[in-house]
Amino acid sequence: MPKTINVLFLAAEADPFVKVGGLGDVAGSLPRALRALADEDVKLDVRLVLPYHPVVKADDLKPLGMFSIPRGESEVGVEAFESVLDGMPVYFIDGDPIRANGSVYSLDAKLDAEKYTFFSLAALALQRQINWHADVVHANDWHTAVSVYGSLTKRWEEGAKHVAGVITLHNLPFMGPNVGSILEGYGVKLAQTDLPEWARVMPLPLGLWASDAIVAVSPTYAKEILTPEYGCGLDGFLQTRRETTHGVLNGIDVTSFNPAHDSALGVNFDINSLEKRAANKNLLQSRLGLRTDAEIPLLAIVSRMDVQKGVDLAFTALKSMKSVNFQAVILGTGDPKLEEAARKLSDLFPEKIKVELRYDAGLARQIYAGSDMLLMPSRYEPCGLSQMIAMRYGCVPIVRAAGGLNDTVKHKETGFVFEKPHPMSLMAAAKAGIKVFQDKEKWKKLQQAGMLQDFSWENSARKYLEIYQSLVK
Ligand code: GLC
Repeated sequence: MPKTINVLFLAAEADPFVKVGGLGDVAGSLPRALRALADEDVKLDVRLVLPYHPVVKADDLKPLGMFSIPRGESEVGVEAFESVLDGMPVYFIDGDPIRANGSVYSLDAKLDAEKYTFFSLAALALQRQINWHADVVHANDWHTAVSVYGSLTKRWEEGAKHVAGVITLHNLPFMGPNVGSILEGYGVKLAQTDLPEWARVMPLPLGLWASDAIVAVSPTYAKEILTPEYGCGLDGFLQTRRETTHGVLNGIDVTSFNPAHDSALGVNFDINSLEKRAANKNLLQSRLGLRTDAEIPLLAIVSRMDVQKGVDLAFTALKSMKSVNFQAVILGTGDPKLEEAARKLSDLFPEKIKVELRYDAGLARQIYAGSDMLLMPSRYEPCGLSQMIAMRYGCVPIVRAAGGLNDTVKHKETGFVFEKPHPMSLMAAAKAGIKVFQDKEKWKKLQQAGMLQDFSWENSARKYLEIYQSLVK
């Protein structure tokens, strides 16, 4: 067993450099949590590598020079930079396919196919440039999955040493565009795989096929992806990889998400001073233009406006709750149709429902600290981070029993859990929540039980460590 395991950790986004969604939170915090693990036997030298998207924010970048990767008869230039985050080296890869598009994810599948294939292969080639070599290549989602496939085919072609491949699945339905001819252009052969035929040219399936371990971001999601309902056509294939598939729950950054110190809040509080939370509700109500009344239950949705998240189910449920005394706030951006539906809902109930269609991290924190319940009726939810943050802030989650929601929220102990992805099921759960809300003592118990949950990264990071160790023996 080596004393140090070198891990090349690839992602399309990572906080604080570039963040679009939950993947950015995880890729920003997990590598650091891994490096921080104090284990006497083994140390993890995890290094993060990201595309140098034009929207990346990074200071003090150190140029690492130029190199190139072969494509056909010619070469594609790669420019690499290095930054440091809490002592962790972070590499940025630049080149024409990355500059070709300003955003992290494009609506143009071809641009993304070019960009992420180039990125994944250039990240592998970077190792020689910096004279540091991974024992484990750890990719996240489809964007970087080609690195795991490419590192395996490299071994076949060049007899390179064994490098283990790990893929974390944050969102299985997104498998990426056809990259077959792009891979071949870079000299990466398409293997005979036991994947379904349609999947044999797609980055995520290829990566999964080549990987030594697959990690789903929650234990429940690890089981769900083996079923036709959630398996997106790969369930049969994934069943053959059962032995090497794990479910490891994401953590959250409990230092940043701490109501006792969060500078975005009007008043800080903790589990022993929950009464101070009321001031945050009052501030939130007045900021949103809602009646400032502690007795009215305030429901919140903090989410990407996406069918995955079931926000449409929540809109329908809220609409049917005409006779119930509640207030609601909806924060997020995304699908224009869902944004429009949210706007219509608040037009219908201007006194009751407020809608903020934007990304606003500060307001999100104020909502966690000031609202009473968080609605998450997701159709599927690999892990979900908002419900964990909400619990830390004494906001009680009302969630569907899917994926990580099922693993993090305990019905009637830390929140309310319902089964069917249906507005009526959500409505029943919300009404049950509102009923308990009237009973101050019971409500406080729910809040405190949620605040006591340990959602820090340490336990999960240790599970990743065990997986790495089992692969590099
Ligand atoms: C994706 C999933 C979400 C998960 C996040 C981080 O955004 O939809 O459930 O929490 O990735 O893993």
